[in-house]
Amino acid sequence: MSGYRLRDAGPGDGIALTEALVEAANWNSDRQRPRVQVLADPVRRRYIASWPRPGDAGVIAVDDEGGPIGACWFRLFPADRPGLAGIAGVPELILGVRPVWRAQGVGRAMLAAVLGKAAAAGHSRVSLSVDKGNFAQRLYISEGFTVVSSTPTTDIMVRTVR
Ligand SMILES: CC(C)(COP(=O)(O)OP(=O)(O)OC[C@H]1O[C@@H](n2cnc3c(N)ncnc32)[C@H](O)[C@@H]1OP(=O)(O)O)[C@@H](O)C(=O)NCCC(=O)NCCS
Repeated sequence: MSGYRLRDAGPGDGIALTEALVEAANWNSDRQRPRVQVLADPVRRRYIASWPRPGDAGVIAVDDEGGPIGACWFRLFPADRPGLAGIAGVPELILGVRPVWRAQGVGRAMLAAVLGKAAAAGHSRVSLSVDKGNFAQRLYISEGFTVVSSTPTTDIMVRTVR
């Protein structure tokens, strides 16, 4: 692949975020769900609804032509309408990279950038939900996330950001 760069996610990036949300939901190549089915899930839709809301922040990775190849962002949910991680007062992070661009450092670069944004926004922690068996967890552990709770299928991970 050729080069990529990161830029801040803005109001026009709803489609890029949606694509990354679908990639994240479909991380397991043996269990691919149609895009429409992923987006029909009311909890998953919460991560992109009305993007950007006050307090949202993220980055888009773009290729040499400026086309989006991945996205990473965080959103703070109200306690009565949580996301998948569900820790009150702690924003949740979503990360996805297009398949042909994976394993080239894009995900780690976006994650580092967004952790910096969370700290700059005054958050003390960020959270995420990751399915057991998803190698993304290796990335999260190597970037300082720890598991704070689990179900039989999912780990909730948290990282201190300042
Ligand atoms: C998870 C994901 C975002 C990582 O982004 P990426 O650009 O592929 O990752 P990077 O190249 O930055 O690699 C970061 C680390 O991830 C792990 N990793 C990446 N590709 C891997 C692979 N094919 N097999 C095993 N581990 C891998 C490694 O630990 C790697 O660190 P290293 O390069 O020091 O060994 C990306 O693969 C993706 O979009 N996956 C599908 C969606 C998803 O699972 N999102 C997260 C949901 S919680």
